[in-house]
Amino acid sequence: MIQVRARIQERETRGAVHILRLHAPDLARQLHPGQAVLIQTGWSLDPFLRRTFHPIAIDEATFRIRLAPDADRGRAWLRMAAEGTEVDALGPVGQGFSLPDHARRILCLGQGDAAWALLPLVRAASARGVGVALAVEATTRRQTIPARDLPLSVEYHVATLDGSAGRRGDLRPLLPDLLTWADAVMAVGGMDFYRFLARAIEDARVILPRGYAQALYQTDFLCGFGACQACAADVAGGRRRVCLRGPIFDLVDILR
Ligand code: FES
Repeated sequence: MIQVRARIQERETRGAVHILRLHAPDLARQLHPGQAVLIQTGWSLDPFLRRTFHPIAIDEATFRIRLAPDADRGRAWLRMAAEGTEVDALGPVGQGFSLPDHARRILCLGQGDAAWALLPLVRAASARGVGVALAVEATTRRQTIPARDLPLSVEYHVATLDGSAGRRGDLRPLLPDLLTWADAVMAVGGMDFYRFLARAIEDARVILPRGYAQALYQTDFLCGFGACQACAADVAGGRRRVCLRGPIFDLVDILR
């Protein structure tokens, strides 16, 4: 993990959502899909705690973070920061997704705003020639990923609770076919979403084997290197520091 100054190179606004492109070559080169970056969100030590982000795009020199509207003071500061502003950033934190060697077809499953963390993985897998299906369930259209942000080869499914994009409801009806098709599953969502996914895998494939599904354990990190215990959670058979063992876990380990 390294600490760098990251410059806000570009700001894109999509309604109330801001997407910032941060220039930090040394950090960007080390980042893998699913890992986190901790960013200081103020000129001084107020607010003191860094905010946790899972980049939504990564290239050689930059990474992008997405700021959906919320009441957090630190993220509000970042939404207002001008292009050219330098922020203090720590990363990469933890273990990212790892594409199994045998995987020829992966299913990426996301829930709500968190689904955007799958984008670097979707692009990387697609660039390697792996077949990718992305399925996202959200409350409204605002949380969903526009198809134009995806590689053309990606098969994309959307479900929204209010019916404003894709099918109305959730992904439940689609999962049997998608899970039969996929060699591996990569997921980002809440614990209920993971429990629902585990049941769907057992229905479609009889058991949930270790090594079949990876999932991002969502939490905020304070130090990011195992010192503060703030991220400790009951995963992988005991009390673990997510910043060291995660945030990407085998789905089996998240649920037991
Ligand atoms: S964030 Fe401090 S121990 Fe994990």
